[in-house]
Parts: sequence; C-alpha cells; structure tokens
Amino acid sequence: MTTTSAIPASITPDPEEIIEKRHSLVPVLDSLPGDSVPYALAAGEGNQLQLGPYHVTVMSRPEDNGGVFSLARVSSGTVPATPFFSVPGPTFVHVMEGRLTLWFMDGRREVIAGGSATIPADTPWSFASEGLINSALVHSSSDAFLRAARRLGSSSSSHTFRVSDGITGIAHEELEACGFTFYKRDYLAELGPRFARLPQEMRAFSLEDGEGDRLEQFEQINSFVCRPRHTDNQFLAVQTRGAKAPYIPRHFHRLHTENFICLDGHVTLNVNERELVLSRGDYVHAPAGTIHSFAFTGHNTQMLGVLTTGVFEKFFDYMNTPTDARVQLENGGEPEFPAEAFVKVQAELDVEVVGPPPEG
Ligand SMILES: [Fe+2]
Repeated sequence: MTTTSAIPASITPDPEEIIEKRHSLVPVLDSLPGDSVPYALAAGEGNQLQLGPYHVTVMSRPEDNGGVFSLARVSSGTVPATPFFSVPGPTFVHVMEGRLTLWFMDGRREVIAGGSATIPADTPWSFASEGLINSALVHSSSDAFLRAARRLGSSSSSHTFRVSDGITGIAHEELEACGFTFYKRDYLAELGPRFARLPQEMRAFSLEDGEGDRLEQFEQINSFVCRPRHTDNQFLAVQTRGAKAPYIPRHFHRLHTENFICLDGHVTLNVNERELVLSRGDYVHAPAGTIHSFAFTGHNTQMLGVLTTGVFEKFFDYMNTPTDARVQLENGGEPEFPAEAFVKVQAELDVEVVGPPPEG
C-alpha cells in the first residue's frame, strides 16, 4: 500500500465505509449518476451541449467522480484557431477523428486521430480543428471547459455538431468567469520539438499514435501517453493495444479511480460482477472500491486508461518491459505471467486482489 503523500492536497482518500459500499454497487448505465459511483456510458451517451461550433458530450462531471476531473468528447467541423488560453488544471486531449493543430509557446503541432496532447495547468495553448469532421476526448483536472459548455452553451438533442459559421462569438469575460485566462501570443509556424520518449519535465507536448513511453507484456503494448509528472500528479494516461486476452484477476483500488475508454475492438469489463462489452467510444468509470476486471475480446483492441491520481504509475513499469515496438507482437504461445513483479505490485501499490478472473 502506498502512503497518501503522493496524493495532491486537493484529493483526499475516500473513507473505508464508502470503499466497501462501492464493492457491490450495480453500475449506472447510460446516464450521468450525479454521485461518485461506478457507471458506464455507451458512445454518445451523457449530456449533449452545443457551444458555438463545438458539440460537447459530457462524459464525467466533478459531481460524478468526487470532484476530481471532467471528461467530455468534443466534436466540430473545421474551426479556425482559438485565442491562446489556459485553464487552472492539467488537460489531456486524445484525438478520435480528424486533425487538430495545436499551438504551444514553442511552436505548432499537428495531431491526427490516435494522437494526443498534454497541457499542464496554467499553460497557454491554442487549437484549430482542421479536418472536415473532428472529435477529441478532453480530460481535465479543471472544470473550466465543462463550466463554459454548461453556462454558455445550450443543451442539444443531437449527437453531433451542427453546421456553424465558425468562431463562437462568446465574450472573453464570460469565459474568464468559467476559469479561462487569455493571452496575446504569436502563432508560430514552425513545428515544436518531438519526443522519442515522454519529456522529463512538466511541459506541453503532443504525441503521434505509436509514440509515448512504450512498454510490452505478452501480446500487448502499454504506452504511457502522459505520466503523473506532466500533470502535477493529478492523473496519468495509458494507451493500450493488444491481442485478444482473457480477464485479469478481480481487484479494486483504494486511492485511485480508473477510467476505461474503448478506442477500437472490444473490451469486456466486469464491474462489481456485471459484464459490460465496450466498443469504440464506450466509457466506464470505476471509482476507488469498485471491484473490476477486463478482457480484450476483439483482435487489435485499443483502450485508453486515465487513472486519477497518479499513484498507480509503477504498476505498468513493474509489469511490463520497455520496448521500441509500436504494435504488439503476436507469436502465439503461452503468456508468461510476471509473477515476481506481481508480488511486488501487491506489496507496494494501491491494489487489492479479491479473486480469480471472472468466468467467461
Ligand atoms: Fe484496476
């Protein structure tokens, strides 16, 4: 068990009785629960809002996750660059469709589907939606994006963006009241630096699909696309790509919440004994205490895991081996379970195994 010193001051562990209660809660399906409980949303479920040219599917609000983060899928047509802005919490963007241009202080980045970007708190950036159809998952420790969408947008019955003339026309003062800060900066034309591995320091960076701190275990690549050191220990994100794989042992965590988003193929999740099959864009929120397990039930399945806070980082380093590969090697044969590493994981990290893998 880790000590609580790694947890940001703003995040206090849930009391034991809440952890225990969450062992048996039936996951809420296809609606935002308004409470910190396990829930699942099929792609497109959640709250739909339109803010200027951006369509926002709210997938998690602070009131759904103990006040820790906000998560939304934002889609739009082609939209010119925003002014430079920052929000008071680290933000992670995973591009699902189309192409974004991002501007950081050291240059421009082009990010196409499968790529991602991490922007620390209070760091100026700007983005333009360049494709004809674009969408991105936006996870942030700040609720500024959600506040803007809820206060300044309008609720929508549509599950995609509507045609718009472009820029929002929303006054900066109104966005500032939601937590945004605006800057006057130059939109540099030259490309900023790229990283073969994740940068050491906390800075804004982007990754192409296949970049990141790549680690492998049997027929699976687990790639850190941001580590806790990039988010002030608020969260980490791992993009996993793998062959079909059976359920892992049933377990729960006391100190961190796990968010699973299927990016391709099929992920079968067992959440407090309920089986959920996830396809592209489907989401499961498993707060501390939720007993869970997952299996990859489609070929070439891809999953994005966003863990809040960063306390479970070492799990991936202990259980995997660094690799230069971009995709999993499928040689068949029997997987070799890293038993020694798993003993270390259980001794040191925030995990409690409660039973063997679920049946099925
Ligand atoms: Fe877990």
